[in-house]
Amino acid sequence: MPDVNEYVLDRVTENISSVTSAMVVREYKQIGEGAFGTVVEAVLRPYDGPTDQWLGPFAIKRVPAQTEYKSRELELLRVVNHPNIVSLRYFFDKPSSSDGRVYQNLVMECLPSNLQSEIKYYKQSKYTIPYPHMKAYTFQLARAMLYLHGFGISHRDIKPSNILVDPSTVTLKICDFGSAKKLEPNQPSVSYICSRYYRAPELIVGCSIYTTKIDVWGLGCVVAEMFLGKPIFQGQSPELQLKEISKLLGPPPKTFFFKSNPHYRGEMFSNKLFSCTVEERFEQIFSNSPPDAIDLLLKILVYDPAQRASPRRILVHPFFHELKREKFQVYPRGATEPVTLNLFNFSNYELELLGSLKDELLMTN
Ligand SMILES: Nc1ncnc2c1ncn2[C@@H]1O[C@H](COP(=O)(O)OP(=O)(O)O)[C@@H](O)[C@H]1O
Ligand SMILES: [Mg+2]
Repeated sequence: MPDVNEYVLDRVTENISSVTSAMVVREYKQIGEGAFGTVVEAVLRPYDGPTDQWLGPFAIKRVPAQTEYKSRELELLRVVNHPNIVSLRYFFDKPSSSDGRVYQNLVMECLPSNLQSEIKYYKQSKYTIPYPHMKAYTFQLARAMLYLHGFGISHRDIKPSNILVDPSTVTLKICDFGSAKKLEPNQPSVSYICSRYYRAPELIVGCSIYTTKIDVWGLGCVVAEMFLGKPIFQGQSPELQLKEISKLLGPPPKTFFFKSNPHYRGEMFSNKLFSCTVEERFEQIFSNSPPDAIDLLLKILVYDPAQRASPRRILVHPFFHELKREKFQVYPRGATEPVTLNLFNFSNYELELLGSLKDELLMTN
């Protein structure tokens, strides 16, 4: 029997209704250890209800309640509501029994895996995630971004470990809003966010007025990683990260530095490190990948954020046409029966964001 930790709390707030009540929490498994806290699997029940009727399982993320680092995680998770974003069910504050500090606890729906583990799992058996699954996952990731970016919210830490998946249903949900922020036009934000391998080039050179396109760069890196089985740009230092990018995209244009940060005085990696065209370079690196995947990556992994594909442009890319086929089904890992995915249940808000591309996206082929 694993370590079970059961306790009663006077004040647990339900996210949607904001109603606060006493509940019993039973934690039984640690599932994550991150930079700022821990994540455990747990079940909850109302304190005055039947003792055998547990709700869940949930994932509880615990972070110190007051830190100098301002986390908007609770605030943002309370306002978002999307099938491809992890949903918050309850939250509560609790002093830790070991260090006496107050911890903020976020009780979320629990998914069995994340993309980092999935990529690793297939890599170990010398495969990649099956293409139809990759398409479904990427589509869901772009859908989550369309929604978030519609509110001006940037996740700012897109990477495989912050992308939860359920391989048995091929469902994807973004998690970890610990770095997320609503970006206001022309208002500066810190550029030292995002994990290095997934950091957009404009952030590397110290751009402070950036846009939600930094998340799209992260999406491109995640898609590339699904194909390659390892991170595409593995810089040994923040500055060398730009060199890794230039090995695929060629030297950054002079205008890129000027537009991103006119004060940048670091290395510009202006020597071309390969002799072929950028398209040919992509074909070399993604030699086993389908042409429409390479075309999509060519439109995402672009220096200039203004030229980088937007989530709505990504959603209509031919890479996803297969998903629209009437009889499209996938076989989840280990399953003998296929499942049908519900990828096109767009809300009115999403349809509005899609605008003129709506018909193109909903047209079946
Ligand atoms: N709702 C959840 N369901 C299942 N696992 C989760 C959930 N939330 C987080 N995790 C796991 O815990 C890890 C750390 O959580 P995360 O929110 O990314 O915290 P940190 O800010 O410490 O990185 C994730 O990589 C994931 O594996
Ligand atoms: Mg994380």
